[in-house]
Amino acid sequence: MSRVVTKAVIPAAGFGTRMLPFTKAVPKELIPLVDTPVLQYVVEEAVDAGAEDILIIISPGKEAIKEHFMPAEKLEERLKSSGKDELFAGIKKINTLANISYVYQYELNGLGDAVALAADFAGTDPVMVLLGDTVMDSAVSRGVSAQLVSVYEEYRSSVIALTRVPQEKISSYGIAAGNMIAERVMQLSDLVEKPSPADAPSDFAVAARYLFTPEIFAALRDTCPGLHGEIQLTDAVKKLLLTEKVFGCLIAGKRYDLGRVAGFVSANVEFALRRPELQESLGRQIMDILKKFNIKDL
Ligand code: G1P
Repeated sequence: MSRVVTKAVIPAAGFGTRMLPFTKAVPKELIPLVDTPVLQYVVEEAVDAGAEDILIIISPGKEAIKEHFMPAEKLEERLKSSGKDELFAGIKKINTLANISYVYQYELNGLGDAVALAADFAGTDPVMVLLGDTVMDSAVSRGVSAQLVSVYEEYRSSVIALTRVPQEKISSYGIAAGNMIAERVMQLSDLVEKPSPADAPSDFAVAARYLFTPEIFAALRDTCPGLHGEIQLTDAVKKLLLTEKVFGCLIAGKRYDLGRVAGFVSANVEFALRRPELQESLGRQIMDILKKFNIKDL
């Protein structure tokens, strides 16, 4: 079966101020989740969903991102000659995942402004958009972007990943309004960027993954600066709603926002504990730490 959506865009230009000072020199998208940069998980999720061509939007100073996906000949030779075959295969794989290209966002004018830079790359094709600082862990065999592709296959319209969030987190996300029309599928009627809980139309939050028809780029061209004086992707989706249907997909899975300190630490503990070789010794060390801080229950 031919793939339905073969292009993905990954915005990765932001400063990463929530993780300073680490992000002064290292892009937040290269923050490790155990031993692998967040962005590699994101690229792998896009590839799993069918992406063959990936455009990463970076900004000056974030060239380490390019280096991560480039061949590293000397390192590969060393790993091969020292018989580290598994490591060699893992490193070699990184630069063969997809055709990755880059575009620079020179002025950081918001997520919508970043995605608008992908207009030529998308042409007349649909594109997945995956935020480069967030790992989505699917609860089913298909990854989260692949779940969006399934909804797109059925409805042939833009689809946005949604998760429910507690009241105190509502003002950190884009919040959707709409009607559930199938299990896990909502037809959107509105989207509001980071509302106060009192003004929020629901607790369904936009969860770092989107799949857009190319019409999003015309909507972005018409979008004026919104919250914080930035071009908001959420506002462009609102414009898109005037001309076509947009769906929300209540995803089966969990988001790990590695661009915030608490999310970074807890995701690392959880993903490390999943590794059989680390589970016992790390589990014991964590218990000792909890005892030291007298934490039994919270
Ligand atoms: C962005 C979007 C927001 C979305 C969030 C997580 O906000 O503007 O609508 O809910 O990503 O996907 P940011 O976290 O970049 O401030």
